Amino acid sequence: MPILEIKNLTHTYGVGTPFRRSAVEDVSFAVEQGEFLGLIGHTGSGKSTLIQHFNGLLRPTGGQVLLEGKDIWAEPKKIRAIRFQVGLVFQYPEYQLFEETVYKDISFGPKNQGKTGDALDHAVREAARLVGLRDEQLEKSPFELSGGQKRRVALAGVLAMEPKVLVLDEPTAGLDPAGRENLMANIREYHRNKGTTVILVSHSMDEIARNADRVLVLKAARILMSGTPAEVFARAEELLSAGLDVPQITRVAMALRNRGVPIDPAVYTVEALEKQLLALKRGGAPC
Ligand SMILES: Nc1ncnc2c1ncn2[C@@H]1O[C@H](COP(=O)(O)OP(=O)(O)OP(=O)(O)O)[C@@H](O)[C@H]1O
Ligand SMILES: [Mg+2]
Repeated sequence: MPILEIKNLTHTYGVGTPFRRSAVEDVSFAVEQGEFLGLIGHTGSGKSTLIQHFNGLLRPTGGQVLLEGKDIWAEPKKIRAIRFQVGLVFQYPEYQLFEETVYKDISFGPKNQGKTGDALDHAVREAARLVGLRDEQLEKSPFELSGGQKRRVALAGVLAMEPKVLVLDEPTAGLDPAGRENLMANIREYHRNKGTTVILVSHSMDEIARNADRVLVLKAARILMSGTPAEVFARAEELLSAGLDVPQITRVAMALRNRGVPIDPAVYTVEALEKQLLALKRGGAPC
């Protein structure tokens, strides 16, 4: 059974007003336990609206969200419990930090979950460690930290609840390249070590290419493509005409193909491109 299943989900904003608009329209897909799913799409394609349904922040106007086979809205009074199981880190989460110290901010979620004493302390320190925050930073005000460190605090606050599904909305947007790679390395490590299901929304195709097992592409409120990174990025022309980017290596491979070099369209990593070029150089067929 998939851990999360989205069935014919529709979300219409402004029902009953002249501004009525469906931001998600009849979207269906399933996410398997332990999977790392990438979600991409042009600005305004509905990514943030879609993922806010996964933990019940938004209620579908149509369709269902099933967590481990159960409709999360079956008992609306229990929706708060869903927020502990599906942890959502918002787009620009640094604006949601509000406590006096980093420690208190990270403990907000697990405290609400009912954790106290040593169990609470352990959850906070373990989450801080996972995102690379040092002990002395825990007593600082979150407002004294850099943008990248604030992101880490927000992520730690969600990890401290040990969610079964971790949903990240553009976690690295606005960070410098080193900060991005560092934060993604923490997320990768967490995914690998805990086997948690991760859903990552990103504008960076390279980030998706490097991390996701499977990619969903949204276009104008609907799913345009779904597949492994190799399957999706092999359709580079379609992605580009949908106003999306492709990984840098895919661009290089496209340019080479346009010059008559027989490179496989599914190449999207440096390693795969190197392998193909070496095979061509040796005169063999590309593998
Ligand atoms: N609270 C809201 N009320 C009305 N319309 C909204 C609301 N939030 C989003 N929208 C509209 O819904 C559509 C989808 O927005 P959404 O934020 O889900 O897109 P997105 O793919 O996350 O975009 P981005 O890449 O810029 O973050 C857009 O047209 C947006 O203007
Ligand atoms: Mg968004």
